[in-house]
Parts: sequence; C-alpha cells; structure tokens
Amino acid sequence: MAAEPDKVLIFDTTLRDGEQAPGCSMTRPEKLRVARALAELGVDVIEAGFPAASKGDWESVQAVSREVHGPIIAALARCNREDIELAARALADAPRRRVHVFLATSAIHRQYKLNMAEEQILRAAVEGVQRARELCDDVEFSPEDASRTELEFLAQVVEAAIEAGASTVNIPDTVGYTVPDEFAELFRYLRKNVRGIERVRLSVHCHDDLGMAVANSLTAVVAGARQIECTINGIGERAGNCSLEEVVMALKTRAAFFNVTTGIQTTRLYPTSRLVSSITAMPVPRNKAVVGENAFAHEAGIHQHGVIKHYSTYEIMRPEDVGLSRSHLILGKHSGRHAFRERVRALGFELEESELNQVFEEFKALADRKKELFDGDIEALVLRAEGAAAGPWSLAELETHAVTQGTASAKVRLRHADGRLIEHTAEGDGPVDAAFKAIEAATGIGVMLRKFEVRGVTEGEDAQGEALVYVEYNQRTYRGSSVSTNIVESSSKAFLEVINRIEQAAAAGNRSREERTAAAHAASTL
Ligand code: KIV
Ligand code: ZN
Repeated sequence: MAAEPDKVLIFDTTLRDGEQAPGCSMTRPEKLRVARALAELGVDVIEAGFPAASKGDWESVQAVSREVHGPIIAALARCNREDIELAARALADAPRRRVHVFLATSAIHRQYKLNMAEEQILRAAVEGVQRARELCDDVEFSPEDASRTELEFLAQVVEAAIEAGASTVNIPDTVGYTVPDEFAELFRYLRKNVRGIERVRLSVHCHDDLGMAVANSLTAVVAGARQIECTINGIGERAGNCSLEEVVMALKTRAAFFNVTTGIQTTRLYPTSRLVSSITAMPVPRNKAVVGENAFAHEAGIHQHGVIKHYSTYEIMRPEDVGLSRSHLILGKHSGRHAFRERVRALGFELEESELNQVFEEFKALADRKKELFDGDIEALVLRAEGAAAGPWSLAELETHAVTQGTASAKVRLRHADGRLIEHTAEGDGPVDAAFKAIEAATGIGVMLRKFEVRGVTEGEDAQGEALVYVEYNQRTYRGSSVSTNIVESSSKAFLEVINRIEQAAAAGNRSREERTAAAHAASTL
C-alpha cells in the first residue's frame, strides 16, 4: 500500500520577497487585502514583511498580525538583536507567529558583503537563533546564498542553528543559480550529515534567475523539503521567486509522483493571482502557466477538436480547478443585478452587499459606454472597487485637444480632500503628455516618468484600456493604474494615483517623524 502523503507547507512571501521587486511596493491597506486573500487561499505561513526595513514595514507586519488569522504570520530579521526584537514586537498580536532569521553563509557573501570569517558567521547565527527563541517559540533560520556555500560549512551552520533552537531550516537559492540535480544532492547531503536534522522541517526558497525556481523547489521536495517558500505570480527580487500557483498545481496534478499534499484551495488561485496583479500593477504574461490568459486556450484546430472529444487529450488540469470559470456569456446594459452577482461569484470574488451595489452601479455606467462586457471588464471593476490608492486628489474634469501636426493641450480640474478645486491647462506632446503636465502643475508635484503602458483589458473595438504609469520621485518608484474606455482618461487617472501615493507617503513620513518626536518626548519624561 502506498504511504500516506506527507503535507508540504506553503510559506507565502509575496508581502516580503515579492514586495521587494522593483515597483511592487504595497501600501498597508493593500498588504492587508493580499494577506486576507492568502488566508482564504489556505497558505500555511504568510511572511508579512521585514520590520527592520522601514517603519511602514513594521506597521504592516503589526496590522497583518492583528487582523489576519489562520496562517502563521512570519517576519524577517537579520541575525542581530535590533532586527529580531523589532520583528518579535511587530508580531506580538499574532495568535500564531514565527521569527525568520537569516545570515549569508557563502564565501562570496562572507568576503564581499559581510567581511566576516566562518567562525564569526557561526557565532552570529547561533546568537541570532537563540535571541529569536527567547522571544518566539517558532524560529526559522535561513543561510542566505546556501546553494553557493561550501557543503561542509553549510552543514556546520545548519547544525548549529538547529542546536540553538531553530525548528525550520530554509535552504535558499538566493541568486537562482542552482540546477535540479545539484540542489537535490545538497538536500541529501544535509539530511545525511547534519545531526538533529530529523527534528526540524526542511524548507526551500528559490529565485528564478535561470527560470528554474519551480523545478528546483519540486526537486527539493523529492529530496525531503516539506515547506516551499513562494509568491503569487512568482513576483520577487530580480526575475522573481518560485511561483505559488505553478508549484502547487504541479504537486496536485502529479500527486502520484510526488505523494505529498498541500492545504491550498486551488480554486482560489486565479482570483488571488488577479488581485496581486492588479494591486502591484504587474500584468500576468498571457502564456504564464496555470493563471495566464492562454493557459487553457486552444488555438490549433486539431487541439480544439481533441478537447471537444475529451478534455484530457490536451488539458492536464481543468480551468475550474484553478478558479477559472470563463464563460462566453456576455453581459450588457440589460443584465440584471442577479446575473451580475452570479458572474462575479463564478469569477471567484465574494463581495459584501454594499460593495456589490457599488460595483453594480459602475457596471451599469460602463455598460452605457460599451456594448458588451466581458469577464475581463467585470474583473477590472471588482478589483478596482477598493484597490485604487484613495485620495486625496480626484479627477473632477478632463478636457483635451489634439491635432496631428501641432501641440496638444489638456485642461484638468482636480478636487483635493481638503476642499480645494484646482484647474490647470498645459500643452504637451500629445493629449496624455499634456494631461500629465497639467496634473503636475495643479498638484505642485513634478515627477520623472519612467514607464507608461496601455493595454486592452478585453477584446473588441470598444475594449477598455488599462493604463500603467511608473514614475520616480525622491529616489523612489511609484506606480498607478486605471481602466477606462477612454485611454486619455485612464492614463490621467493612473497618473493621479501616482500623485496620491506620493502625497500619502509624504503624509506617513510626517506622521512617523511626529511619532518619533512624541516617543522621544515620552522617553525623556519617564
Ligand atoms: O533569497 C533569499 O535568500 C531570501 C532569504 C532572506 C530567505 O530571501
Ligand atoms: Zn529570496
């Protein structure tokens, strides 16, 4: 009889490693929204952030710890007392919490980054894990750049971390350098040569620089790993991390081969992927495995013919298994609330009654401008219902004028939350450029435009256009996105979202300066 399948824990690091991807930073409400979706998806651990990185990160970890229950909430810390204490404090309200300490072990990192000898690394790792254990029962240790570390030294560090009290040992392929056979060998080596390794859970954390993060993670599972660290849509540093949806569906689809299970509700994969894509303004490539638009599309006649006869001819998973229940049922302005609600549900979104009412109103307004509404339109409406960075500026009016040979002009009227109504006109190289300049002049915030993209949300000549804007301001990247049938309007709204994010960040900065002053004052009066 085959052995009972083991459970592999899914450790999601979308909010930490994923958020480190350029242009993917999220506000606190956005992180909470993603964390709630991850809890519904059934992940075992949510790595909510790196509290020592910034005050905003610390606050987000605290908010997730307070408000999202079910999964273990983890926070990252370097192996030093300040980081570890900050992480433990941010996690204090989580019913189930984990401090995740890391320290680089490879010769390259020891020499060039840390300037530390092997003995110093060993000591710092042990002290870090011990301090974390004093503050939290559940401690994970990661030897950063493990896959490029000398095997003997890696085994020594891992053994010392286990002895010091780590209950999970995570093996990162930090720079996405390893290949499956070599990585499996590394896991086998550790299992054979590290005393106490049977007492801990082995974990794997792969980056995708050579496109092998999922393959390397799966191979680690075959070699004994029982936790996979991954992110939604594979977002993360550089080329990203192991993609959660791909690795989970590989384990499920090839269950007979891997003989392991996960706690993931796979029907939540598609809506969660869309949510993260919408919040980070990071489009999912059409041909991406599992959640890409083409993942279940059959173009070649011979394939279509086969699938009609029996889906298994060309489909190894069902679209419904990943939460994709596309339909050719097109909604329009005569569709009622009931049909709309059913469609929203079939797409994997559960809205409160008040949210549904608001989105239904927007649906009706859109249906007046557009003949047919596709699933992509409905998704865009639902995802944006509470997604856009709220205020303080909103677009009250936009008027543009453009001719083929000549300068374009734009007049914007903006409303600020403090009651101001400001109007500005500007000229530019096309109506979008003119609108951006008018918004800059009206708000008094000048930015460096780094990237601007418009793509159709659905097919059809009256398709909505989604505009994505990336800018640089004070050495930080900000992004905004918006959807409309009028692409000058969606571009202007996306640009305004960027301005709103900049104002929000400035307000948070001022708040934290005030908080620091108040805290310093309180400390001096103790
Ligand atoms: O890639 C890496 O090594 C990491 C560690 C902090 C786990 O993200
Ligand atoms: Zn990483």
